[in-house]
Amino acid sequence: MTATDLFSLQDRIVIITGGAGLLGGKHAEAVLSAGGIPVLLDISKEGLKAAKKRLLAAYPEGKVETFLADITDRAQLETIREALMGQYGRIDCLINNAANNPKMEGPAENMGAIRFENFPLNIWQQDIAVGLTGALLCAQVFGEAMAKAKQGVILNISSDLGIIAPDQRIYKKEGLTEEEQTVKPVTYSVIKHGLIGLTKYLATYYADKGIRANTLCPAGVENGQPEDFVEKLTNLVPMGRMAKPEEYMGTIVYLLSDASRYMTGSTVIVDGGRTCW
Ligand SMILES: NC(=O)c1ccc[n+]([C@@H]2O[C@H](COP(=O)([O-])OP(=O)(O)OC[C@H]3O[C@@H](n4cnc5c(N)ncnc54)[C@H](O)[C@@H]3O)[C@@H](O)[C@H]2O)c1
Repeated sequence: MTATDLFSLQDRIVIITGGAGLLGGKHAEAVLSAGGIPVLLDISKEGLKAAKKRLLAAYPEGKVETFLADITDRAQLETIREALMGQYGRIDCLINNAANNPKMEGPAENMGAIRFENFPLNIWQQDIAVGLTGALLCAQVFGEAMAKAKQGVILNISSDLGIIAPDQRIYKKEGLTEEEQTVKPVTYSVIKHGLIGLTKYLATYYADKGIRANTLCPAGVENGQPEDFVEKLTNLVPMGRMAKPEEYMGTIVYLLSDASRYMTGSTVIVDGGRTCW
C-alpha cells in the first residue's frame, strides 16, 4: 500500500458539524482534497450556501452535501442519517466540530457578564447543549450506522484549552474594572476537556465495532483579531504565531483516513507548542 492509498478518503462520506464555520470549511476542503464527500451540518442557512459555493468553486469535480440542522435535536440528526443512508448507503466519518464560539478579543460589550462568579445558567446550558450534548447525539445517531457497518471514524474537535486552562490575562482590556473584564467562559474549558473524555469513552466502547475515535486539539487560528490580542496570545506560543486556518487540513486527513488505522482514543495537539509552556 502506498502513502497515497493510506491517506485517501476516496468516496468517503464525512459529516462535519458546524460545517459553515471557519474551521468547518477547512475540514471540508481537506476531505474534498483527499477524494471524500463532505456533509456539512449547520444552523446557518446562508453560511451553508456560501460554504458550498466556495468549496465547489475550488473543487468543481467534487461533491458537497449540506443540511440545515441543529445538532441538539436528535430527530433532525436521524432524518439526516436516513437521507444519507438512502443516497449513499453508508456514513464513514463524523467530525464533531460545532460550538458556540464566544469572540473574546473584540470590543468589550459587557463581556464581564460572563465572568465565573455570575456565569448565567442559560448560557451554560446553551453552550453545553451544542458543544457536548450535540457531540453525544451525533455520535449516537451516526455511530449507529457506523456500528452496523462495523467501520467508522469519529473525530472530536477540542482545543488547546482542552489541555490547559485559559490564560485570562490575554483577554484583559485597558480602562476596565476587574468586574468588567472579559474572560474566556468556563463552558469553553468544561466542553473542550469533556470532549477528550467522550473520545476515550467512544474509542473503548466502539473498538469491537470497528469504530475509531480521536480528538484534535487546535489552538488559536488567525481570523482578523486585533493586533494587541494577537501579540499577547503569540507570546504564549513557542512558534511565536497563531495557526493559519489551513494548517489543520493535513492532520484532519491523517486522522480520518487509514493512515491512522491503529490509532484510537488519542489526543492530537496541534498548537505551535503552546501547551508545552
Ligand atoms: N478558531 C479557533 O481559533 C479555534 C481554536 C481551537 C479550537 N477551535 C474549535 O474548532 C471548532 C470550530 O471553530 P471555528 O473557529 O470554525 O468556529 P465558528 O464559530 O466559525 O464555527 C462554528 C459553527 O458551528 C455552528 N453551530 C453552532 N451551533 C450549532 C448547532 N446547534 N447545530 C449546528 N451547527 C451549529 C455555527 O453556526 C458555526 O458555523 C470549534 O469546536 C472550536 O471550539 C477553534
